[in-house]
Amino acid sequence: MGIVLDKDMDEARQGEAISMDSSKGGKKLYLESYGCAMNFSDSEVVASIMTNQGFSTTQDSEEADVVLINTCSIRENAEQRIRNRLTQFNKAKRQRPGMVIGILGCMAERLKKNLLEEEKLVDLVAGPDSYRDLPGLISEVEGGQKAVNVLLSRDETYADINPVRLDKNGVTGFVSITRGCDNMCSFCVVPFTRGRERSRDPHTIVQECAALFNAGYREVTLLGQNVDSYRWNMTSKGDIKDETKPTTNFAELLVMVAGVHPELRIRFSTSHPKDMTDDVLYAIANHKNICNYIHLPVQSGNSDILKKMNRGYTREWYMNRIDAIKRIIPDCGISTDIISGFCGETIEEHQDTLSIMREVEYDSAYMYKYSERPKTLAERKYEDNIPEDEKQRRLEEIIELQHGHSLKIHKAQIGQIQEVLVEKESRRSSEQLMGRTDKNHKVIFDRKDAKIGDYVMVKITDCNKASLRGEIV
Ligand code: 5AD
Ligand code: SF4
Repeated sequence: MGIVLDKDMDEARQGEAISMDSSKGGKKLYLESYGCAMNFSDSEVVASIMTNQGFSTTQDSEEADVVLINTCSIRENAEQRIRNRLTQFNKAKRQRPGMVIGILGCMAERLKKNLLEEEKLVDLVAGPDSYRDLPGLISEVEGGQKAVNVLLSRDETYADINPVRLDKNGVTGFVSITRGCDNMCSFCVVPFTRGRERSRDPHTIVQECAALFNAGYREVTLLGQNVDSYRWNMTSKGDIKDETKPTTNFAELLVMVAGVHPELRIRFSTSHPKDMTDDVLYAIANHKNICNYIHLPVQSGNSDILKKMNRGYTREWYMNRIDAIKRIIPDCGISTDIISGFCGETIEEHQDTLSIMREVEYDSAYMYKYSERPKTLAERKYEDNIPEDEKQRRLEEIIELQHGHSLKIHKAQIGQIQEVLVEKESRRSSEQLMGRTDKNHKVIFDRKDAKIGDYVMVKITDCNKASLRGEIV
């Protein structure tokens, strides 16, 4: 979901190339990432595997021996963007024929041999569960063959791989807790590209979070397609679970991670409305360092559409979950994902989406036009019959409504003093810093003596729909 995995990464990080200080000597890797947070997290695993093989990294694709693109298939335009990029890399390859071009991630899985054979755009294709095999695949290509591994696994979690951290701020990091998805929402390609759901050993998760804290990190985001279905017991290996053994569920995992250090903030993404339990909400309410923020994708406000989407809940069920959040965590930020113009959506059904938005008043939302994906249940069963311009019109109504809600919620904070974790310099000026509140609102403020990674108290003085302004007090 939304991380599809949930929320897509900031637009600013799409196509980001990795670079590490240790980048010296050896063969050079250029690695670019697209899509959701899970993909960016996977790229950190890939970087770790490759540097262990003696690769160094470069930010200049033209000097690379190996170019890898970690790709996204969630909507058609995501794939188009990557094809354009592959065409550019192929131009560079004409100058340097020894260069290896590979695609990783969801498109690799979805298109398998097409990109190799029919379109001849790449030398190597590696799906999300085959990154350990990358050094071998690269050797095959260097030996003159094309190389493919798109096998999906039932138990690969990369639990033992220590990811190389690629986000330069050194304050916030992603930690994956599950891979794959078993939900089969009818619009979604993820179950096909990322395979069956599996949970990662909680002790390796806690260890990774503790290591991040010791390295100066102050916030972790636990990642999974559906974090609420996290489940581990002593015999967990993929989906083989012995229910007679004590298990760890998501609420318990949250409490374990909260115990790492009171100054380590914990976020997670994505929650699924059908599976989110009150236990998770109580874990948030009872632990100051588990942030009061939940990303709860609704997709549509109409129960018939939700049924066609195979989401496993009705509007009433969803609102019951929202009421539970508001009751158990009185001051909680809530965001969502919404799709406009799903197959057969009537104007009345679209109005239901607008009305549920009014009822909830989300802090923020990721909003998309429905994009039909090959092989999905919706593609096989329903007609993608809402014209593009009508999908766009509905989307614009949704966006406009959301902007009004975001602005209203931001305005209500003016005058308040909030604790902010400083993440980085603001994009506009090195004299200003950017951080987030517990509820995940972005705040921009003058630097004064604060440093990146500090917790500071900020008085909110102004806002727009995207962020808050304030001053350190
Ligand atoms: N078309 C449009 N949006 C989609 N999403 C997933 N699949 C599609 C699709 N085929 C959206 C959902 C999900 C988010 C990550 O992406 O809202 O929660
Ligand atoms: Fe999320 Fe549903 Fe896709 Fe799974 S199938 S990743 S729950 S949208």
